[in-house]
Amino acid sequence: MRNTILVGPMGAGKSTIGRLLAKELHLTFRDSDKEIEAKAGANIPWIFDVEGEAGFREREHAVLVELCQQDGLVLATGGGSVLREDNRQALQAGGRIVYLCTSVEQQLERTARDRNRPLLQQANPRKVLTDLMRIRDPLYRSIAHIVIETDERPPRLLVTEILDRL
Ligand code: S3P
Repeated sequence: MRNTILVGPMGAGKSTIGRLLAKELHLTFRDSDKEIEAKAGANIPWIFDVEGEAGFREREHAVLVELCQQDGLVLATGGGSVLREDNRQALQAGGRIVYLCTSVEQQLERTARDRNRPLLQQANPRKVLTDLMRIRDPLYRSIAHIVIETDERPPRLLVTEILDRL
């Protein structure tokens, strides 16, 4: 058995859905952002501050490769994990990939009060999310086995749909 890997933008619900899905499948849930933080002994804003986005992406790459080599995980990935070609290859080799496709509107609602996402600590998060989506949506789609529309749909329903389609 390989892993079930959730990809998608910030605020797509990857962690919430991943946790529920892991419970249903009796598998272990892992979150690549949490692994990065644990290994660094620091939170993501600190890593961005001190090492820059490039430093964070190196850490993200190492963690993704390590997690994708395991088996039987439900893995929630950071929104930027699809940016690197070598990450996309590792994810594809790692298991079934589910893209949680979410509108910018919904992402904004879910991330509005969040201080833990450095890329959104700017004057115009709507523009940031829109620009990121333009670049990343084709990348998510290029590796996804299953695309799930998440807008206006409760996590439990999404989990049922994913289970049906896995
Ligand atoms: C990022 C998304 C974040 C986190 C980091 C960068 C991105 O994860 O990895 O802040 O580039 O979209 P979530 O998608 O879990 O918020």
